Amino acid sequence: AKIAILISGRGSNMAAFVYAAKSPNCPYDIVLVASNDPEAPGLRLAEAESIATFAHPHKGMAREDHDDIMHDAILRSGAEYVVLAGYMRILSDGFVKKWSDRMLNIHPSLLPKYKGLDTYQRAIDARDNVAGCSVHLVTPELDDGPVLAQTEVAILPDDDADSLASRTLIAEHQLYPATVAHYVTRESNPDWILQQIRDRAL
Ligand code: GRF
Repeated sequence: AKIAILISGRGSNMAAFVYAAKSPNCPYDIVLVASNDPEAPGLRLAEAESIATFAHPHKGMAREDHDDIMHDAILRSGAEYVVLAGYMRILSDGFVKKWSDRMLNIHPSLLPKYKGLDTYQRAIDARDNVAGCSVHLVTPELDDGPVLAQTEVAILPDDDADSLASRTLIAEHQLYPATVAHYVTRESNPDWILQQIRDRAL
């Protein structure tokens, strides 16, 4: 399968996809890394790995117009799936509908807990024992689509938001490429589909 990855910043999850895709068994190719920020450090890494990149700043543009430009670039790349990896823009309903069931996101909490920002501090403030990350399908409501997979991460007594974020990121880098690999092969992956139905995720 061909995937496009959308980033806004450092792109460490994108990097995890790049290295996973080097395995001969990997079921996807990264055909595009696109960003709303031409200065995103992740774009430089993608270029160094000879992956096509695209950037278009969103400043001063209507959300729909910017999404249209991103959509065109993704279509031109031939991508069949869109993988959001730290893409810090809320997407218009029109864009989300065009990629319905073909767009995934990773969120650093155990959804449905802590949608939106500051997830680590909110988990610490709530005195939770575990935090984690979730991969979900993207629907128009923020961080609300069906959850495909989660990893729990212990919260340590002296954790602050930064230390918890670093530990969660390690889990993200494992979970996200593996979940996308399952998802894009779901039709030939009956065990995984059964598990999803059992978990009522799909
Ligand atoms: C990650 O924590 C991810 O969960 C969130 O944004 C961050 C992106 O980090 N959606 P990176 O750009 O992949 O390093």
